[in-house]
Amino acid sequence: MNASVSSQTPPMIKLSDVRKSYGHFEVLKGIDAEVARGEVVVICGPSGSGKSTLIRTVNRLEEIASGSITCEGNDIHGTMPAKELNRLRSRIGFVFQSFNLFPHLSVLDNIAMSPIRVKGVARAVANDKAMRLLDRVGLADKAGSYPGQLSGGQQQRVAIARALAMEPPVMLFDEPTSALDPEMVGEVLAVMKSLAADGMTMMCVTHEMGFARDVADRVWFIDDGQIIETATPEAFFSNPQHARAKRFLADLRH
Ligand SMILES: Nc1ncnc2c1ncn2[C@@H]1O[C@H](COP(=O)(O)OP(=O)(O)OP(=O)(O)O)[C@@H](O)[C@H]1O
Ligand SMILES: [Mg+2]
Repeated sequence: MNASVSSQTPPMIKLSDVRKSYGHFEVLKGIDAEVARGEVVVICGPSGSGKSTLIRTVNRLEEIASGSITCEGNDIHGTMPAKELNRLRSRIGFVFQSFNLFPHLSVLDNIAMSPIRVKGVARAVANDKAMRLLDRVGLADKAGSYPGQLSGGQQQRVAIARALAMEPPVMLFDEPTSALDPEMVGEVLAVMKSLAADGMTMMCVTHEMGFARDVADRVWFIDDGQIIETATPEAFFSNPQHARAKRFLADLRH
């Protein structure tokens, strides 16, 4: 690739001095960070440190008080018509702890709905794509099932397929496995691993440190509304720099 071209490519996600408060409580205290194209970032830190708030600001599920967040150079929190905001948002997939599938729609329809409604994709094309995505997450046989008929791990894999149906260049995950029974965690992490292997840009809030070790390019450790450490997983786990990060890892190991 031409170096001068690649150096001009904006980062996939860029946060600049992002601040947010709930009343008098400042929950994000000036976040500066970047996620490169194809990078997998694991965000960890103590409960209440601001991880969910941070990741929710990235697709504007939460407003910010000041600073800026861009996705491929587009200002997510700028003033724009609703249609434009929806278009930007559809480029950022989001998977939550709670799967939030539509209970009255089949698995196939859950996945095909947004491409049909938001992008105007023809139903046959959307269904075809949904079947391929179901195959990818190992659930091709569940297309006609309803969410209530699936296990938690299966529902979360459908939720991932649903997000992927919009073909987002970046995916956000907020503790996607923490509501699951232990035996279902692995199947969801395996899907996330395969996404990472295919080059998806990912921001993942997770306590799954095995996943962080195996898959993350970088770990961000957040404490009290600030990213106080960013490191490769090797460096973070073997030699955390801050006392707070050392304590966090020691607590996790217990
Ligand atoms: N809607 C809200 N109104 C008021 N305070 C809030 C709101 N949402 C979050 N907070 C507070 O902001 C802080 C950060 O919350 P956040 O959910 O981002 O933390 P977290 O790091 O994701 O925690 P956890 O690991 O428990 O999920 C907490 O002190 C929380 O109580
Ligand atoms: Mg959270």
